[in-house]
Amino acid sequence: MSSFTNNPEPNLASFVVALDGPAASGKGTLGRQIAEHYRFPYLDTGILYRGVAWLALDTGVQPSDAALTAKIASGFSLDRIKNADVRSPEVTAAASVVAAHKGVREALFDFQRAFAKTPPGADQLRPGAVIDGRDIGTVICPDAPVKLFVTATPEIRARRRWKQLIETNPTIPEADVLHDIKARDARDQGRADAPLKRANDAELIDTSDLGIPAAFAAARPIIDAALERWSAGAAFKQSPA
Ligand code: CDP
Repeated sequence: MSSFTNNPEPNLASFVVALDGPAASGKGTLGRQIAEHYRFPYLDTGILYRGVAWLALDTGVQPSDAALTAKIASGFSLDRIKNADVRSPEVTAAASVVAAHKGVREALFDFQRAFAKTPPGADQLRPGAVIDGRDIGTVICPDAPVKLFVTATPEIRARRRWKQLIETNPTIPEADVLHDIKARDARDQGRADAPLKRANDAELIDTSDLGIPAAFAAARPIIDAALERWSAGAAFKQSPA
């Protein structure tokens, strides 16, 4: 059996499933399911941008302030947002504002890249990770063996997010959620640095008409085929003729 240890190719040190897509497209749910099935650790990179946004709002820094938010990002650690409500609509909107600053993205790059190369808690014989975000397949892990771009119509995404939000805020209108999602899509797709877009080699999964089991069923053969190629490549590299 092939092993992934001692792989001489640093970029091939772990099997990364890169999941990108717009807000509430279902990539988080799908990502967690993939992670559980293949026993890979999971990183939701949105939490990093949400965390920086929460710290900015908490300390009176304007999310539009590129220099101060980059400073917050450079001292960021998940410990600093342990009890923070990073899912509120205010933090959500601010996250996509801070995420447009080059300095913020640069400051968060190393953490994401380190997770991809040496996934914490990964199986040493088959190290891998599932990483979800906006620029994982394009910027953070352009060499990922699996890239999935998960999307759905704005209306369906807004309905899903609204259903989550009314559990804590029962009066929030669905139309407001749709408005916020469209505004965030526009900011995420329109920014100069690492905009949200499908990588050329990413497989598209449109979850507009797919439930969670169907989305997973669409992803699974793609991942299985890539894992097989990966295993064959690793074995070949370790036993030169
Ligand atoms: O959960 P949801 O899809 O609503 O958003 P999220 O993944 O938590 O991301 C929140 C915001 O962070 C996004 O709207 C992006 O602006 C930003 N983000 C990003 O720019 N790059 C990433 N890799 C992840 C999130």
